[in-house]
Amino acid sequence: MTADGTTTPFDAIAAAYDEDDFHQVIAERLVTDIPTTGGLVVDVATGTGHAAFAALQHLRPQRIVAVDLSPAMIASAAAKAESLDPSGVIDWRVADAVPAPVADGTADVVLCASSLHFLGMAAFTDWLRILRPGGVLAYSLPSPETFNPSPTFAALIPRDLALPPTPSAAIHLTEAAGFTQASATELKTTTDRPRSVFLVHAKAPGR
Ligand SMILES: C[S@@+](CC[C@H](N)C(=O)[O-])C[C@H]1O[C@@H](n2cnc3c(N)ncnc32)[C@H](O)[C@@H]1O
Repeated sequence: MTADGTTTPFDAIAAAYDEDDFHQVIAERLVTDIPTTGGLVVDVATGTGHAAFAALQHLRPQRIVAVDLSPAMIASAAAKAESLDPSGVIDWRVADAVPAPVADGTADVVLCASSLHFLGMAAFTDWLRILRPGGVLAYSLPSPETFNPSPTFAALIPRDLALPPTPSAAIHLTEAAGFTQASATELKTTTDRPRSVFLVHAKAPGR
């Protein structure tokens, strides 16, 4: 149940979510090339926390805010945090990710793994709001070639953001939304369930 008493379809998949190793692989690949930061990392639509935990390990920030609409996803993440984040660096929030519960211009890094397509273009505007000038954005989107959501999840996808079919289309999407120095690479599964995502890195303008 969310704070307003409703259930999200993501609650129903939270218990088995970590059985799919690809989420962890994406999270690790998103953060590994980002320089260490002493500041604030925001993991938008964190799910069970893969990107937040990867950031904790690789970026060593002072604080991480990890936000997700699904209480069951956050409960799963918080349970793992007992061993993975004993110092309590990660602040878990059940909330809508847009707007993120973060003050303007305070984030050094914004992460969003496999979730932007559920948030729509408004997320880019909000990330420009919360990132400091020159702050890093790292997100992933599924390739439309292999993305095949069930009707329940397809109904949650805003229509204002078309999934980019190539890395260069992902770069164009990101720079058209106001970011600079965008780069994108494709990451594919090596399992018998073929999937492909684009990993995108960019900077907030201003430095
Ligand atoms: C495919 S999962 C990705 C989770 C995680 N980032 C990962 O890579 O493992 C999508 C997540 O987006 C969350 N989500 C969808 N819409 C949201 C919204 N408006 N605000 C916050 N979270 C949202 C869902 O609850 C779910 O946990």
